[in-house]
Amino acid sequence: MQGRDDLMRTSRGYWASRTLLTAVEIGLFEELGGRRRTAANLAENLRTEPRATALLLDALAGLGVLVKTGRSYAIPTPLRPLLSPRGPESALGMLRHHAHLWHTWSGLTESVRTGRHQRSDSSFRRGPEEARAFTEAMRDGARRLAPGVAAEVDLRGRRRLLDLGGGPGEYAAAFARRNPELKVVVVDLPNVAEVGEAMLADHPDVRDRISYHAADLDTDPLPVGDAAFLSHVIHANGEDTNRALFRRIARALEPGGMLVVRDFLLDEDGTTPPPSSLFALNMLVNTPEGRCYRVVEIASWLRQAGFGRAKRLESTVSPDAAYVVAERKA
Ligand SMILES: C[S@@+](CC[C@H](N)C(=O)[O-])C[C@H]1O[C@@H](n2cnc3c(N)ncnc32)[C@H](O)[C@@H]1O
Repeated sequence: MQGRDDLMRTSRGYWASRTLLTAVEIGLFEELGGRRRTAANLAENLRTEPRATALLLDALAGLGVLVKTGRSYAIPTPLRPLLSPRGPESALGMLRHHAHLWHTWSGLTESVRTGRHQRSDSSFRRGPEEARAFTEAMRDGARRLAPGVAAEVDLRGRRRLLDLGGGPGEYAAAFARRNPELKVVVVDLPNVAEVGEAMLADHPDVRDRISYHAADLDTDPLPVGDAAFLSHVIHANGEDTNRALFRRIARALEPGGMLVVRDFLLDEDGTTPPPSSLFALNMLVNTPEGRCYRVVEIASWLRQAGFGRAKRLESTVSPDAAYVVAERKA
């Protein structure tokens, strides 16, 4: 931050965010699709107030989320695949998830005062509907990254990969595609496993080498494997839960078995990169004990759990997240 302008831009940064999230919440993008519509017509169909709707649409056009021609509005062609409810590039699931997170982020001040999170439990432990919405958001997030991640993680010679907390199965499918001999077991909570298993229909080419195992990683027996992938799971847990989880994973892996932890990692002093220190706040407001971690912390849990020396590997496909890799000692 250099001065007043930077400070002001950050302080009111939520204006643009809130504008986009309201468009998501009223279902504007589904209503527009590939069409061009006036504010009056949109307000009528969306059952919103006409003057307020016109103000929202103009602001969205000002941000470049819509284009305005005469009195009508449309989604710009390059954004259509992203703002479409279906299709491989759809980002609507993740945008809905962000709209949902707005509510807990609004309680950040209270969380900082009390140390308590803003919800009674994590989305994936809630009912089937919330588990579905969360898993769709995770699919949106993973879909465009998974092939690159599968290329960055070397699973040559491994036969059975456990994708722990694998949710929608996008990474499982990408790993199976990349490694023709590999079988993948996705382990996730029952409500998520049900949704994820149905999503395998998107991957008919590798469907027969992926199975789902409904289980709680913290309490249920884990299946066995010679490799495990644990992506974006540890940030929702406190330190003790992660220590215990690593011990459980070590027991599930064969000697020499490899664990790949993928997460938003923090640098040594805990402040950077900003996506990780901000994500730690996301966990503060959404989970009882979650936060982001430093490599030294993860490496020490791995050592205590019986793994050899841990290595940090950077990711070029998703630079906000990196890997920590270690092998179980014999
Ligand atoms: C943030 S999502 C990450 C999904 C996927 N691994 C990825 O990287 O995109 C966390 C996943 O871990 C699962 N998970 C979290 N805690 C779990 C537990 N105790 N047992 C089983 N699954 C769990 C959630 O249901 C969810 O699917």
